Amino acid sequence: MIDNHTTSPPAGVNPSTPSIARVYDYLLGGRDNFAVDRQLAEQVLKVAPNARTTAQANRSFLVRATEAVVRAGIGQFIDLGIGIPTSPNVHEVAQRINPDARVAYVDNDPIVLVHARALLSRIRSDVITLKGGLRDPKEILDRPKLRAHIDFAQPTAFLLVAVLHLLTNEDRPERLMEAIRDRMAPGSYLILSHLWDDPDGVARAGAGEYAHHKASASVVPRTRGQIQLFFDGFELVEPGLVFLDQWRPTQSMINAGAVVDLAGVVVDRVEAVEVLIQQVIAQLLVAAMNFRLVVDAEEAE
Ligand SMILES: C[S@@+](CC[C@H](N)C(=O)[O-])C[C@H]1O[C@@H](n2cnc3c(N)ncnc32)[C@H](O)[C@@H]1O
Repeated sequence: MIDNHTTSPPAGVNPSTPSIARVYDYLLGGRDNFAVDRQLAEQVLKVAPNARTTAQANRSFLVRATEAVVRAGIGQFIDLGIGIPTSPNVHEVAQRINPDARVAYVDNDPIVLVHARALLSRIRSDVITLKGGLRDPKEILDRPKLRAHIDFAQPTAFLLVAVLHLLTNEDRPERLMEAIRDRMAPGSYLILSHLWDDPDGVARAGAGEYAHHKASASVVPRTRGQIQLFFDGFELVEPGLVFLDQWRPTQSMINAGAVVDLAGVVVDRVEAVEVLIQQVIAQLLVAAMNFRLVVDAEEAE
């Protein structure tokens, strides 16, 4: 585990400001975080006790959704907001099914880039890592290095997993969606998860802790209606809006059936471009309550 007192941080890494990527790493049981990150994560867990299972379920969704789009024939991926590498990473999942799959990883956090370059892109030519911010989507999506690696004339999967809620309304997240849509060849996919503004205010309480601790980005839970606005021009595909663990669960997940705490959506663009949307619900639910809570989620604005 990195610690302020024992290890010098990599260049550009600020150990006194909590980083979204490092807090997430801590929640996932990783070791690449500082005391400030762990303190914030523990505060978040006090007000949103399901934050850890939510993070784990989010990773599990990322794996299942990536597998689904590779099986649908996608061979190139742009992972926007990747987090500190956590195995299996997108290229590992994709290449189990299609060994020729190519991946571009993008993030703006120096510690993510240090680890991603060391672990992912330095040792292989089918993976690149780019420093880039999602507030200026055209800059990153049109960067020559990205264009040399990913052919936008071919179907591509874009991943915005647990990252869109890190853009405030002032950051104009709809511009990012538009930039992605404009670059999608027919048959492309978007895999997305988003923190849900649950009626009990659990997600908002967690977001308040990030603000209080002056984390590297704001956390903005959104209602179902607000999230759906991002997907104008797309059409839902199966299984539609469901709790995250219900998004094409594996047999073992169905059999386990104990705790379900996230929800998901699958969307299909009218012009045959498919989108997978995942909505994160910040509540700890039991399987028996799923149906009622799905209905509640659908009734939420
Ligand atoms: C919660 S992590 C999610 C990681 C991964 N997508 C997953 O779901 O497991 C969010 C990541 O997005 C990155 N991020 C946040 N805001 C960003 C921005 N404006 N531009 C680029 N990356 C950003 C953070 O550095 C972090 O690595």
